[in-house]
Amino acid sequence: MPLDTIRIETERLVLRIPQIQDFDRFAELFADEEAARYIGGQLLRAEAWRKFLQQPGAWAVQGFGMFSLIERASGRWLGEVGPWQPEGWPGNEVGWILHRDAWGRGFASEAATAAIDWAFENLGWDSVIHCIAPQNTPSQRLAQRMGSRNQGPGKLPPPHQDAPIDVWGQSREEWMRRRAGDRQA
Ligand SMILES: CC(C)(COP(=O)(O)OP(=O)(O)OC[C@H]1O[C@@H](n2cnc3c(N)ncnc32)[C@H](O)[C@@H]1OP(=O)(O)O)[C@@H](O)C(=O)NCCC(=O)NCCS
Repeated sequence: MPLDTIRIETERLVLRIPQIQDFDRFAELFADEEAARYIGGQLLRAEAWRKFLQQPGAWAVQGFGMFSLIERASGRWLGEVGPWQPEGWPGNEVGWILHRDAWGRGFASEAATAAIDWAFENLGWDSVIHCIAPQNTPSQRLAQRMGSRNQGPGKLPPPHQDAPIDVWGQSREEWMRRRAGDRQA
């Protein structure tokens, strides 16, 4: 499928592949000490540029990657959410990073639901994980809202081997059961 046709619409969001105009707000997110604390730490703008290119690179080379989230009402870039499977990772991750001005409004939950649906529909995954620092309470709450459980401590590949993380996750069957329940409710 041509990458520029991949687009998901939810009630308040568009999920699409990252584009160059997303970079200013991406760099702002990574300049924010609190927002960047559990995603590798603060970055200078030129460092953020290299990181920004990882997701379009993953889309081009692996055929999937994290989506940019765009607020439909304003056109504002809110963050990135989606599938992510770097070399040596402990599983098939759906990850989430939002700009601080988008926290606390349910945008991450709305996007994560759509992204996990997309990953199970398109990537043939048996399970999904989220690698979360034990102190990152907002991310743990989001994983719980998605129906994932803490499966215990995990290890990221070097050079991240000393970053403590728990692996949260669930099986494809658990996700499908939960979503069938959502649709009946
Ligand atoms: C982790 C992160 C994505 C969570 O974002 P979030 O905005 O808290 O997550 P949600 O989208 O699920 O929003 C839920 C909150 O919005 C509130 N909310 C408001 N309107 C809502 C709506 N329409 N629908 C759902 N929730 C709504 C909920 O009550 C909830 O508040 P609470 O957490 O105080 O209980 C965000 O904190 C972040 O980007 N952190 C920095 C990067 C990071 O650490 N990423 C994770 C690495 S593992």
